Amino acid sequence: MKITAKTKICMIIGDPVEYSLSPQIHNAGYEALGIDGEYIYVASHTKKDELENFIKGVRAMQIRGIAVKTPHKTAVMEYLDEIDAVAKQIGAVNTIVNDDGKLKGYNTDWIGVTKPLEIISPIKNKMTALIGAGGAARAAAYGITIKGSKLTIFNRTLSGAQELANEFGGAAKSLEDLEEIKNMDIIINATSVGHPPHENETPVPSDYIKSTHIVYDIVYGSNAPTKLIAEASKKGAKTITGIEMLLHQGFAQFKLFTGHDAPEEAMRNVLLKNVK
Ligand code: ATR
Repeated sequence: MKITAKTKICMIIGDPVEYSLSPQIHNAGYEALGIDGEYIYVASHTKKDELENFIKGVRAMQIRGIAVKTPHKTAVMEYLDEIDAVAKQIGAVNTIVNDDGKLKGYNTDWIGVTKPLEIISPIKNKMTALIGAGGAARAAAYGITIKGSKLTIFNRTLSGAQELANEFGGAAKSLEDLEEIKNMDIIINATSVGHPPHENETPVPSDYIKSTHIVYDIVYGSNAPTKLIAEASKKGAKTITGIEMLLHQGFAQFKLFTGHDAPEEAMRNVLLKNVK
């Protein structure tokens, strides 16, 4: 045991949080870099009405870093001292860094969307279809447009897509026009369709998917491929699961908390070993 009185605490908060794999992933990262005496990563199941007290606790106990999960990503912003410009634009904070008592909020979710795509191919000038207009879609819309990809947002409720397009750029369409994705390069699902309890559903009819597509299901569920991912693989398309979203937003968080580049392989291995 390398924990001492100098060990800094990082944690993830959410409601629920018990199924989060972030503690295992980050602690494996600390171990791989030999800094597991400098940092420890735990979790806090924090209810909505305890959020303000939680932040007081962070200040009192000098917690170094906090990963913020649903339902706190927007609500937590009012309790921070500073918000990074990107997080402000996305309207959500998923990462808080405590520098000598000053709490600054960041958003790394958009990196979790763009990085895994860029590993496969540059996304500049590509045509990207984003399905959904909720919280996850906001970070995706920011990332996709900032990287110069041409965005079309498809949403069940057209007004939601329109709002997002007004803020981040791109075109807004309802799901009735979804067939247009046949001619696009990248398909991102940011809806909960395909995840428990809707695991037998897919937001995209398989006829619309081609072998030239890159299909990314960003909502993190389980290791089992969603119906969308399974059908896209069958068509020969390149696929990316929500596991990559979890990893890449976490790698960026790791750097913000510790200043070190994340040891990606060690963190990925522990996730794959523990994910159901
Ligand atoms: P999150 O924060 O995870 O993004 P959210 O904010 O509740 O979750 O957003 C859910 C998204 O999934 C929305 O875009 C929602 O569409 P609406 O804006 O029309 O509500 C979409 N969604 C949820 N269930 C859906 C379904 N059965 N079919 C199509 N879209 C669905």
